[in-house]
Amino acid sequence: MISQRNQNIRIAGKKDIRQDFGVWDHFDSEAEYFEFTENWFKECCRILKPKGWIYIFFDRQKVGFFDLILAKKYNIKSKSIFAWLKSNPCPSIRKANWLSASEFVWIGCKQKGRIKNYLSHKEMYNYMITPNKAAYGETTHPTEKPRAVIERFVQASSNVGELVLDPFVGSGTTAVVCKSLNRRYIGFESDRRYYRIALGRVAKTKTEVLL
Ligand SMILES: C[S@@+](CC[C@H](N)C(=O)[O-])C[C@H]1O[C@@H](n2cnc3c(N)ncnc32)[C@H](O)[C@@H]1O
Repeated sequence: MISQRNQNIRIAGKKDIRQDFGVWDHFDSEAEYFEFTENWFKECCRILKPKGWIYIFFDRQKVGFFDLILAKKYNIKSKSIFAWLKSNPCPSIRKANWLSASEFVWIGCKQKGRIKNYLSHKEMYNYMITPNKAAYGETTHPTEKPRAVIERFVQASSNVGELVLDPFVGSGTTAVVCKSLNRRYIGFESDRRYYRIALGRVAKTKTEVLL
């Protein structure tokens, strides 16, 4: 499960108010961003099992990058775009743009991939509505994702005992979900504060689904 997010707000004539949901997403140039993204995408594709699936929370300004460039280059099939809709988004101060009440997840798999576990019809809709982080959040991580969304991806795309990789683990939501659903997991996190938060959450999580 992979995340990318970067959002700035400018108040008319004043300096930027940065809603810094992701300092890790700031790059000196677009070329640097693309190079970084291609590097991890390439590695994920290399180790993805033949029936494995890949889920990427992506920045709306980069829509097309995964579908039009990376997926083709690395022989990954583009399967869907999932919309996570926020039932209570932050209100807009300036009222100058559409309110940001959604995030998108690019979904792909290896060439012959079929969904592993087709859940109930409604659970297979490519959207989910949840309240925003103020309601579901368990940690201080600025972009902690809702467990319900990650659970859906893990349930549909893996079986008990299988291995899930999250190269950008943040507050540990993917690891927590995997432990709860009895999947094995590997996560990378470069920021020690978030790494410790993730470890603490995982330690408190019980395995709910048994073999
Ligand atoms: C969008 S957040 C992930 C949020 C996570 N899904 C959650 O629910 O908490 C991305 C995370 O990736 C981490 N990160 C950024 N660059 C990284 C890198 N090169 N290696 C490992 N972690 C990195 C950031 O510190 C940040 O915590």
